[in-house]
Amino acid sequence: MSTPLEDPVVKMDISAIVEALEEKGYADFFKEKTVLITGVAGFLGSWLADTLVALGSHIVGVDNLSTGSLNNVKHLLKTKHFRFIEADVTKLEPLEEKIDLVLHLAARPSPDDYLRHPVETLLTSSEGTLKALEVARRNDAVFLFTSTSEVYGDAEVIPTPETYWGKVNPIGPRSCYDEGKRYAEALCMAYLRQYGLDVKISRIFNTYGPRLDWKNPGYGRVVVKFIAQALKGEPITVHGDGLQTRSFCYVSDNIEAHLIFLAKKELKGEVLNIGNPEEVTILDLAKTVIELTGSKSRIVHTPPRPDDPRRRKPDITKATKLLDWKPKISLREGLAKTIEWIKPRLK
Ligand SMILES: NC(=O)c1ccc[n+]([C@@H]2O[C@H](COP(=O)([O-])OP(=O)(O)OC[C@H]3O[C@@H](n4cnc5c(N)ncnc54)[C@H](O)[C@@H]3O)[C@@H](O)[C@H]2O)c1
Repeated sequence: MSTPLEDPVVKMDISAIVEALEEKGYADFFKEKTVLITGVAGFLGSWLADTLVALGSHIVGVDNLSTGSLNNVKHLLKTKHFRFIEADVTKLEPLEEKIDLVLHLAARPSPDDYLRHPVETLLTSSEGTLKALEVARRNDAVFLFTSTSEVYGDAEVIPTPETYWGKVNPIGPRSCYDEGKRYAEALCMAYLRQYGLDVKISRIFNTYGPRLDWKNPGYGRVVVKFIAQALKGEPITVHGDGLQTRSFCYVSDNIEAHLIFLAKKELKGEVLNIGNPEEVTILDLAKTVIELTGSKSRIVHTPPRPDDPRRRKPDITKATKLLDWKPKISLREGLAKTIEWIKPRLK
């Protein structure tokens, strides 16, 4: 299947994902499938849409453009394989198409953004997930919910396996996102138990790459924020002492894992951590970005974020085994690709 995608960095990665899925025998599963993607104009939603169109799927994409951008999917609007509905998922109307797969990504995952919109953040996870699950139930579709490592809160078990129940402050400022996702996971499992719906839950650990919003200062996802600051020669702003850790996964590894997860029928009802266990302090991330961009930026420290987890590192033993997958792109490689993508856009 040809793709209308012209962006060279994204195009190359999507070809590599398609090739990997073909080699592993999962590509045919997606041919002629009709897929509803909520949050399609966002970072991961648009990567999934592009990869699925390349695999021969038809996409119905829903987004309210709150944190996403039509720029991420505008090339797809030209094809007959993509229909875009600008709508809030909490008010999703019944669809005209018969849907085979529902990928429910709509959410407000950036702390800088959700701290300003706690009510919308909770409603997207609660009402929005209910609407998306109902579409799946009416169509007897497979349902994927993209949850988050944030359901573990400030985890006491590192690396964190899926069996860990979490340490979350239910009334803290981050609870609109963490508890919203925890409620949504519970709702997915209720649909599995009560209606037998084929639900799958991924808990995504920090993922980055081209199309992650780096322009909007109110969005502030750390990898692209640092890259943009470094390329502009501005100070790199690190929250707190910078010794808190994260484990960053490059987007193509994330997309490949999700598509294998979807294609494997026997994984109904499973919950999988999807991420890269390569753990790094935020300070070291800043230093690596400075090195790779050749920037003269200096690092400055801003006040720490409330309830910010000190360490985050996934235990991906389960995903590695069940998906026969592991991340291939190192942090330095992924950062280099992301820098290559952002650089020409700064002008
Ligand atoms: N990228 C990561 O590091 C990461 C980590 C953990 C979990 N996730 C999860 O992955 C999914 C995708 O995240 P992303 O990184 O692509 O973020 P993103 O902000 O780029 O994408 C989210 C999309 O959802 C849309 N949206 C938000 N509320 C909506 C609503 N009520 N109705 C319709 N659309 C709505 C936004 O406009 C945006 O396009 C989210 O569910 C997120 O929680 C991502």
